[in-house]
Amino acid sequence: MNITLVNEKDVEWLNKVIKTEFPYTKFDTKKISEKINSLDFCILVARQENIQIGFCETELFPQNQEARLNAIFVEDAWRGRGIGKTLIERAINKCKHKRIQKIFLLVKEENIAARNLYKKTKFVFKKIHHKKIDSSTIEEWEQKI
Ligand SMILES: CC(C)(COP(=O)(O)OP(=O)(O)OC[C@H]1O[C@@H](n2cnc3c(N)ncnc32)[C@H](O)[C@@H]1OP(=O)(O)O)[C@@H](O)C(=O)NCCC(=O)NCCS
Repeated sequence: MNITLVNEKDVEWLNKVIKTEFPYTKFDTKKISEKINSLDFCILVARQENIQIGFCETELFPQNQEARLNAIFVEDAWRGRGIGKTLIERAINKCKHKRIQKIFLLVKEENIAARNLYKKTKFVFKKIHHKKIDSSTIEEWEQKI
């Protein structure tokens, strides 16, 4: 497994994953391409023999020295092997090099796998978010880096 920055060849795969896993975000291929070329986003892709098996998207807010982890995903067959954890650790490292001091994220209260993953990667619960998503309660987590 290796982890590299996203490239244009990943757009179709990302679009498919986002539509299935994060339908509430309503991104299309054009929007994903824009993100790939934007300095405000850092999308890392995990690959096995050149096939995409996971990704992690961070959005940078340099003026506040903050970043938001927007999404993390690992293909079903590859879960439970530390890939999610490695993706997040790499994303945190990238943020450190960009003078980011705090990373935050939103997670559905019932997403136990994701919450455990965030705990493992040193995020802490901050508060309940003011909005629900898909009628789920949303939590805000953060970590100082
Ligand atoms: C959340 C997700 C990215 C985890 O990826 P993963 O590669 O399986 O995670 P890892 O193998 O790195 O696991 C790291 C830690 O997370 C926790 N974890 C991962 N999967 C878990 C599960 N199914 N149940 C409970 N805890 C889990 C564990 O604490 C694990 O550490 P451990 O193996 O030492 O116990 C993956 O399940 C996924 O893609 N889910 C769907 C998308 C999603 O919900 N994303 C988060 C919201 S944006």
